[in-house]
Amino acid sequence: MSSRMLGLNAVFHDPAAALVIDGVTVAAAEEERFTRRKHGKEPVAFSTWELPERSARWCLEHAGLEPSNLDLVAYSYDPALATTPSDDVLSGTWEGLRTLFAERAPLFLASALPGLDPERVRFVPHHVAHAASAYLAAGFESCAVLTVDGRGEATSALAGHARQGALEVLAEQPLPHSLGLVYESLTAHLGFRRASDEYKVMALASYGEPRWLDALRETMHADGAGGFVAEPPEWERFAPAVRAGEDWTSAHADLAATVQRRLEDVLLELAGWLHERTGERRLAMAGGVALNCVANSRLWREGPFDEIWVQPAAGDSGTALGAALYAAQEHGEAVAPMTTAALGRSWTPDELEAWLDRAALPFERPDDVAEEAAEVLARNGVVAWFQGRSEYGPRALGSRSLMADPRDPANLERLNDVKGREQFRPVAPMVLDSRAAEIFDDGPIPSPYMLFTHRVKPEWVERIPAVVHVDGTARIQTVSAEREPAVARALRAFERRTGVPVVVNTSLNTAGRPMVDDPRDALECFGSAPVDALVMGPFLLRRPGSAAAERSDAAVVAG
Ligand SMILES: [Fe+2]
Repeated sequence: MSSRMLGLNAVFHDPAAALVIDGVTVAAAEEERFTRRKHGKEPVAFSTWELPERSARWCLEHAGLEPSNLDLVAYSYDPALATTPSDDVLSGTWEGLRTLFAERAPLFLASALPGLDPERVRFVPHHVAHAASAYLAAGFESCAVLTVDGRGEATSALAGHARQGALEVLAEQPLPHSLGLVYESLTAHLGFRRASDEYKVMALASYGEPRWLDALRETMHADGAGGFVAEPPEWERFAPAVRAGEDWTSAHADLAATVQRRLEDVLLELAGWLHERTGERRLAMAGGVALNCVANSRLWREGPFDEIWVQPAAGDSGTALGAALYAAQEHGEAVAPMTTAALGRSWTPDELEAWLDRAALPFERPDDVAEEAAEVLARNGVVAWFQGRSEYGPRALGSRSLMADPRDPANLERLNDVKGREQFRPVAPMVLDSRAAEIFDDGPIPSPYMLFTHRVKPEWVERIPAVVHVDGTARIQTVSAEREPAVARALRAFERRTGVPVVVNTSLNTAGRPMVDDPRDALECFGSAPVDALVMGPFLLRRPGSAAAERSDAAVVAG
């Protein structure tokens, strides 16, 4: 039995496509990496017709398939579950239009992917797709499942029990109550971009005191039955809205801290309920709220589960994968667990060389580019690192990364400048999984997807100041030498030079742009940002006059 399932996320934001063949995920990518428009589109009803056309076409091309070869296209939203019918397009916020466009998606798809039979498009409920992206990808025999986001068709959370690939839904939280929407609403109140900048609120929270917990409890609490009350309060009661160009104050940080704490408390209660109902030791999570690594860590530390697996593309882009995996499972396939987020595009050395020749830039091909990158890092240079298949999900995990020396505290500011980010935002460390426990504790190890925070051990705080957040934690990525050999070599080479087995890792992009995906993006980034060296596959480009300008003696000897 052979099956080819294409999963698509198209409805709200972060459109994406994923291809699962015979239960194995062969490709997954976000549309923004192709179109270079952050988050792919605006999450408004009018944009529902827009499809992840380019990522879908690339998935097919990657596997050598035509649209007509697909057994099924799984679309991660079921318009039949929407509360506003499609004949009511003028009501309220045009919700009926969303329903209408989702209903018509099979026809839109048939025109976007010529040859596709619209009859092969199937709707998968949004939270079922989120859930499948967690419990099927985690590879557990059985586990508890929790998905929490802004919204799906009519719900904002699902709690369930997965056994041998089948999901039993135990509770769903109907809208308007939504932890994700409360967080989004606060994001907007604090002057950030809704459904995009929630990380900033989480980062800001560590600068504040949660001093309005009692007041917020009223509008944000678990209901003891697998659901919750969660509606945005009058934010003005606590702190005024931050307008463009204004700075946040301590009251804003306190408000962020309060909401963050309430969110964590509600999630802890939900986890407690779910643990009791399922008796499982393990929890699989997805949904945009599962990208909140501070909350995940509190669940890990204080919650009832021994093990927590969070799908790295936990936001809506991951529903493309979930929908495809769900379809494969329904078709009777044994679904292979997810072992990496590197599911996007890659280029061969020959192809990369052609790009470099065309750009007419000087480049070299050292014996080991990881060794040379480590040398640049040890001289306090910033390295743009482009290797292998690009990441699915919002985090750079060693495929499209920007690296720096963690010993210099100024590197936080330097990287935030490259990326045009606020200075309160932390950058994260990467470390070999075999070494992580020497430096970090109080969090799960390995932690390959940067979805938890760890405490930096006191003896290391002074040694790696660039990656220590104001609260003494770091959002680590543990690197497997087997899965990411080049990154592992760079880490080892950096340690040989500096005695420090940690390197700063942040995503490779400049201000407001999606992560670099193809060689052109990498070259544009190198050309427009103060990056000292660009590593592309086996090649190295040095910026004249920078920390990378000279070839190292070590490399000459090694060569
Ligand atoms: Fe979602």
